[in-house]
Amino acid sequence: MLLNRSAWSPTGTGTDSSRFEKASVMPVSAVTFRERKERGEKIAVLTAYDMPTAALIDEAGVDAILVGDSLGNVVAGMENTLGVTMDMMLHHVKMVRTGVKHALLIADMPFLSYQVSVTEAVRNAGRLVSEGGAQAVKLEGPVSRFGDVISAILRASIPVMGHLGLTPQSIHQIGGYKVQGRDEASARRLREDALQLQEAGCFAAVLECVPAPLATEISQSLTIPTIGIGAGPGCDGQVLVCHDLLGWGKTRFTKTYADARGVMRGAFETYVREVKENTFPGPEHGYE
Ligand code: KIV
Repeated sequence: MLLNRSAWSPTGTGTDSSRFEKASVMPVSAVTFRERKERGEKIAVLTAYDMPTAALIDEAGVDAILVGDSLGNVVAGMENTLGVTMDMMLHHVKMVRTGVKHALLIADMPFLSYQVSVTEAVRNAGRLVSEGGAQAVKLEGPVSRFGDVISAILRASIPVMGHLGLTPQSIHQIGGYKVQGRDEASARRLREDALQLQEAGCFAAVLECVPAPLATEISQSLTIPTIGIGAGPGCDGQVLVCHDLLGWGKTRFTKTYADARGVMRGAFETYVREVKENTFPGPEHGYE
């Protein structure tokens, strides 16, 4: 007897018509982001690192899925994002690509993929698009450090999202995971950096761990959308690491929307118990 593995569906709803209805909606592009801001519509972004999760998030109607280098901490168990490589990013971007039909797929440029040379940066951004299937890339840091890189990637027709405030690839320089822009000098720098990202041609900018009033002020001063994480409700959109809303992470700026972690743990424990008690598999789970 042939086992029909294709009956397996990432969401458990392979024949659900809502999936196809959603898929017929116009896909989100980098241009859509600006239009959302012009219309005053908030932008919802989530990270994903694998196909089934990406498919669920896409069906939920998110505007963009970010394959963040947070995958280093979240799925690879690393201490920080500095050990994430291009190979790791490509591996996850390809998986996520297969699950996404509607949302804009953004890939993070990992540490050392854009800091060494402009040529390498363009090649690496290009690989995330051509091999991975990403539609935009995100890189951390201001125009004063990466303006040439941003311009070169844009010249290759790859949309670039900026990332300011707490930039995890710089933790050793900024002294750890701290809120940024608290004093007047660093707040001024953040305002200038955000404006320069817009002038450089970025289609959006992540503001991470920035005081809410400053993030609101920056958001109101820009024509490109700001996507906040730990930056308050005044940003044009929000991004969260998907595991943080599913019961794994707990910080001041995350919210547990569902205890999927607890549900998964419970299912695994029940499975182990049933195998030990010999109550699984039952007669209905086997073949005559
Ligand atoms: O790597 C990541 O997931 C990110 C978001 C938290 C913005 O950069």
